[in-house]
Amino acid sequence: MGIRNLGPEDAAHFLPVRREALIEEPFSFGSSPETDRGRSLAFVQEVLADSSQAIVGAFADGELIGNVGIYRDKSPKASHKAHIWGMYVRACHRRQGLGRKLMEAALAFARRAPGLRQVHLSVSDRAPGAAALYRDLGFQTWGLEPAALRIDGQDAAEEHMVLLLGADAPVNGGDAAPSQKQSVDDQTQGDR
Ligand SMILES: CC(C)(COP(=O)(O)OP(=O)(O)OC[C@H]1O[C@@H](n2cnc3c(N)ncnc32)[C@H](O)[C@@H]1OP(=O)(O)O)[C@@H](O)C(=O)NCCC(=O)NCCS
Repeated sequence: MGIRNLGPEDAAHFLPVRREALIEEPFSFGSSPETDRGRSLAFVQEVLADSSQAIVGAFADGELIGNVGIYRDKSPKASHKAHIWGMYVRACHRRQGLGRKLMEAALAFARRAPGLRQVHLSVSDRAPGAAALYRDLGFQTWGLEPAALRIDGQDAAEEHMVLLLGADAPVNGGDAAPSQKQSVDDQTQGDR
């Protein structure tokens, strides 16, 4: 098993895993298989060639078995923020520590980026294992969005979390109290 950042040449391996994630775990992701930008080879190649973002992949026997994406906001007033998206490990490879390693690699990417101070993500209440992992890595909940996702009449709430890096990190560990989310305007701009 290995963990590494994907390059443009890996795009064709990413597409089927991304599609599987959206089909198998609909309540874990904001995107749908029919409209997901990640179904376009050209789009994924572009993402993988962009140094301001990364997709980290987990491999077993040369096969991609999990991934997580991270991108940085481009606008000057928000470029201190990055966003995690698309966290997925194929079902038969779970609970072996890969999800944690993927997140640690994505966070290492964030820590290397000059001026990056916050990493954001959103997690559905249908994915309590993922939320436990994020809390364990230091993410704190800042908002709860009721019925953030609705599929065939069923709702899922989302927890919005942030990990503060560098100068924004709480000196004594801090304990950010969850607050009601005020606006969705500047929420995750890409697919999750
Ligand atoms: C979330 C996911 C990526 C975790 O991958 P994984 O490789 O199984 O994770 P790990 O083995 O590294 O587990 C790390 C920690 O996460 C937590 N965790 C993961 N899965 C869990 C589960 N099913 N139940 C409870 N805790 C869980 C545990 O705290 C675990 O630490 P531990 O093994 O020391 O107890 C994987 O379950 C998945 O792909 N789920 C479906 C998609 C999804 O929900 N993605 C999240 C979108 S925000």
